[in-house]
Amino acid sequence: MTKSTIKGIGHYVPENIVTNDDLSKLMTTNDEWITERTGIKERRHRKNRNDTEETTAFMAFKASEKALEMAGLTSKDIDFIVFATLSPDYYFPGCGVLLQEMLGCDTIGALDVRNQCSGFVYAMSVANAFIKTNAYKNILVVGAEMHSFGLDFSDAGRGVSIIFGDGAGALILSASEEENAGDILAFNMHSEGKYAEELCTKFPGSKFGWSDRMRLEPENVTDAEIYPVMNGNFVFKHAVTRFPETMKEALKSAGKTIEDLDMFIPHQANLRIAQFVQRQFNLPDEKVYNNIQKYGNTTAASIPLALSEAIHEGKIKKGDLVLLSAFGSGFTWGSILFEY
Ligand code: COA
Repeated sequence: MTKSTIKGIGHYVPENIVTNDDLSKLMTTNDEWITERTGIKERRHRKNRNDTEETTAFMAFKASEKALEMAGLTSKDIDFIVFATLSPDYYFPGCGVLLQEMLGCDTIGALDVRNQCSGFVYAMSVANAFIKTNAYKNILVVGAEMHSFGLDFSDAGRGVSIIFGDGAGALILSASEEENAGDILAFNMHSEGKYAEELCTKFPGSKFGWSDRMRLEPENVTDAEIYPVMNGNFVFKHAVTRFPETMKEALKSAGKTIEDLDMFIPHQANLRIAQFVQRQFNLPDEKVYNNIQKYGNTTAASIPLALSEAIHEGKIKKGDLVLLSAFGSGFTWGSILFEY
């Protein structure tokens, strides 16, 4: 059977570092509150909020170049793109086509995934299905987010805006028949749409428009509707239930146990959530990779950003068993278990 193996991986973040102290100049908050509640010390934001060059697709392009270099491939070798983001350059079209153009790929298919924090797990699962059915040989799978242009930095938004940051990660999933090649062993994806408004951005959405008006009319739209809103406690409680469920499901369907794991990379939602899950499974520190301290929550980018760092730092080696799990807006959640 064809194996889905990771041939290359890369990441990119904007240069501009925004510390908790920097945020405390914009809103009533402080380093102690943010660190204690989330573990975040700093995040990256596009330097100039009017910079239209450093966009979501641009960051994805930079991360993809690194992934291609590691894989020893060119953009012409890519057969398909799967792009996960909630912060696209345009309301439509999605970022997939923009990346196809920036990289100079052939007129290959480019699929956009809208599953927020679980976006990369969904994207990688879709790519895996195409590889396993021999539809494509080399698929570029991307998670990228530009949050900094769309957050409320006033006191009203402080419960949300301190968490999110900008960044991108890209990997190339390739078909392989080689005996010692890595492979995706299990995946699962879940959703529970009744909680859509517990973590969402309402505008511009058809539910909130008027038939006789434009999609967005400033006088009719409040800040609470154009910026993301989150019921933090509610999200936290569901996350710490769904993470263990999806992790156990992935391990069970591959006939593995938690002791078999070499590395667990949780979506970087909040360090407290990751630590709660780590304690539940008695995982030692060296088997869990977190980088939320440096980048905040980068939604669809957080897993590929962490996976890329872990691989390039040598913390994941060939043959290692790795579990990726995510939970987020939707609600959506899921996991991927693979051998590197
Ligand atoms: N700085 C200082 N105080 C803040 C603040 C900030 N940035 N944001 C909120 N507060 C205040 C609140 O106004 C509230 O004050 P009050 O008690 O006077 O009303 C107090 O801090 C507690 O707020 P609360 O929202 O209950 O805090 P919390 O302990 O739940 O922490 C989160 C908030 C967002 C950090 C936490 O709920 C969380 O991490 N949830 C999960 C979110 C997540 O992972 N989202 C991503 C999903 S993928």
